[in-house]
Amino acid sequence: EDLELSGHEHYMLKEMREQPDAAETCLRGRLDERFATARLDGIGLDAREMRGFRRVKVLGCGSAYYVGQMGAQMIEDLARIPADAEAASEFRYRRPIIEPDTLYVAVSQSGETADTAFAVSEIKRKGGRVIGVVNVVGSTIAREVDGGIYLHAGPEIAVASTKALTNMGLAFAMLALHLGRLHDLSFADGQRILRGLERIPAQITQILDDEPAIAEVAGEIAQAASTFYIGRVRGFPVAREGAQKLKEISYVHAEAYQTSELKHGPLALINAQMPTIAIIPGDDLAKRNVAAAEQVLARKGPLVSITHPGVELDHLGVRSIVVPKNEPELDPILLTIPTQILAYRAAVVLGHDVDKPRNLAKSVTVE
Ligand code: AGP
Repeated sequence: EDLELSGHEHYMLKEMREQPDAAETCLRGRLDERFATARLDGIGLDAREMRGFRRVKVLGCGSAYYVGQMGAQMIEDLARIPADAEAASEFRYRRPIIEPDTLYVAVSQSGETADTAFAVSEIKRKGGRVIGVVNVVGSTIAREVDGGIYLHAGPEIAVASTKALTNMGLAFAMLALHLGRLHDLSFADGQRILRGLERIPAQITQILDDEPAIAEVAGEIAQAASTFYIGRVRGFPVAREGAQKLKEISYVHAEAYQTSELKHGPLALINAQMPTIAIIPGDDLAKRNVAAAEQVLARKGPLVSITHPGVELDHLGVRSIVVPKNEPELDPILLTIPTQILAYRAAVVLGHDVDKPRNLAKSVTVE
């Protein structure tokens, strides 16, 4: 076991640090410069079929569902096709309408999550087209889908998923680019996204290099009984995933909220004992997000921002984790990385079994 850890204290730490290489592997051979698109031969659907889809529905559980939300947003942004994500665990218990012109996407690291596998078989039974975004080659979901995108993240041992999630983000970005170029995304925008994808592995390394500073913040978060993670639009799935990670391994309560919804209720909970982690990308919503941060600070709530260079926060005197900027559509992939480190370091400070958190299994193969 020690050998496999290759000197790392935990598998989660090792897997977080493997992310730049894992991302390279995921992108390798799939970026098509000539047509400014992504080559995803494993999907098994031809250009005519892909063009015919009028809607995309992503299904996954837990963190895979949150990355699925990021992916749906990327598909709407780049392909301008209505897209949304739903928890596969809910989908299986309602009577979903399966539409022939909807592309269903099942997302799962293990490919063995029962709720997601059941959703796939239900869609197939009713004649829907479903592709997989899966890490484990030959797994149940990978075998059942019509085609898909393998993540090539390598084996993931820690219960808390990290490198597989990052590669899910990349897979969705490539799917969105591919669909976009078959719809109305311009050649120039296709090239812009390709350039952005190429920058991601090195940018992940930059974030990982900031680990000591993030660890300091984690020490403070670990002392809290409860925390908020806030973000809006593209930042909201980042907040959801960040909150999930913290709960999973540090057992500190974390609630994800849309920044825009804070004033409609949860602001009442803000006080000096309730830290907020605010996702504030350097986009057209930055000013509004900074205003929300001011509201938290006015109520004496401690605040940490996960943000981009150039976002004006200095006047607030808050701690900021500054993440390198990429294209707006791809930023959520990178903004998520500090939330992994935060959760990991908080769990270490609290002395928890990081790789095997209580009550959780790596893949949930029961209902
Ligand atoms: C991630 O950190 C969690 N352990 C969990 O939410 C996980 O993402 C979920 O159970 C889905 O697993 P899958 O990707 O293997 O389907």
